[in-house]
Amino acid sequence: MKTTTLSIAQRALLGTLAAAVCCVALTAGAADRSTVTRGAYLVKAMGCADCHTPWTMGPNGPAPDMTQGLSGHPQTMPLHAPPPTQGPWIGGNAATNTAFWGPWGVSYSSNLTPDPETGIGKWRTEDFVQTIRNGKHLGVDRPLQPPMPWPAFAQLTDSDLKAIFAYLQSQPAMKNKVPANTPRATTPR
Ligand code: HEC
Repeated sequence: MKTTTLSIAQRALLGTLAAAVCCVALTAGAADRSTVTRGAYLVKAMGCADCHTPWTMGPNGPAPDMTQGLSGHPQTMPLHAPPPTQGPWIGGNAATNTAFWGPWGVSYSSNLTPDPETGIGKWRTEDFVQTIRNGKHLGVDRPLQPPMPWPAFAQLTDSDLKAIFAYLQSQPAMKNKVPANTPRATTPR
């Protein structure tokens, strides 16, 4: 069998190709990292944890408990029916700042960690972008209730929304089944 020997030029070409493949891979890794870093910056600056992380009493008063970061209203905290909405006070929130009542009924902040069953682990990037753009669960389902400030967040660019999603997906998954929201008409009194 004839052994093929590579010319110096062929070796040089292969070397260049290998280097190019390696650098493309490195650049892609760096791009992913900078997307996640951008997402982290946006999530922190836009206060997602204020509503999506249960608050507990700390040394400086109530604050989001980041050991439960972005896991939504705790499934272990059942709530009884809220008072009727009578002006001028027509709404309020639970001590965890993860459940809210008002003229729309009761809403519970959702689990934004990548748990596949109780969080957004099965969502595609597009599902997230369309949810925020349209203010509807998965972009097409039921309208999101207050106080989720989706009309403000819908002003973000696609690349910022994708960065937020990339960051959320990079968080530790937490299993926490948030209760379904209850529209006012069916809110128990
Ligand atoms: C002022 C409180 C508040 C803030 C701040 C907030 N959210 Fe929400 N969010 C909620 C509530 C409450 C719901 C549940 C609404 C419902 O059930 O209709 C919700 C729902 C969502 C949903 C929909 C989940 C689903 O299953 O359809 C997504 C996605 C979401 N929030 C992402 C975010 C992100 C990302 C941020 C920060 C950029 C953020 N939220 C900031 C209160 C808030």
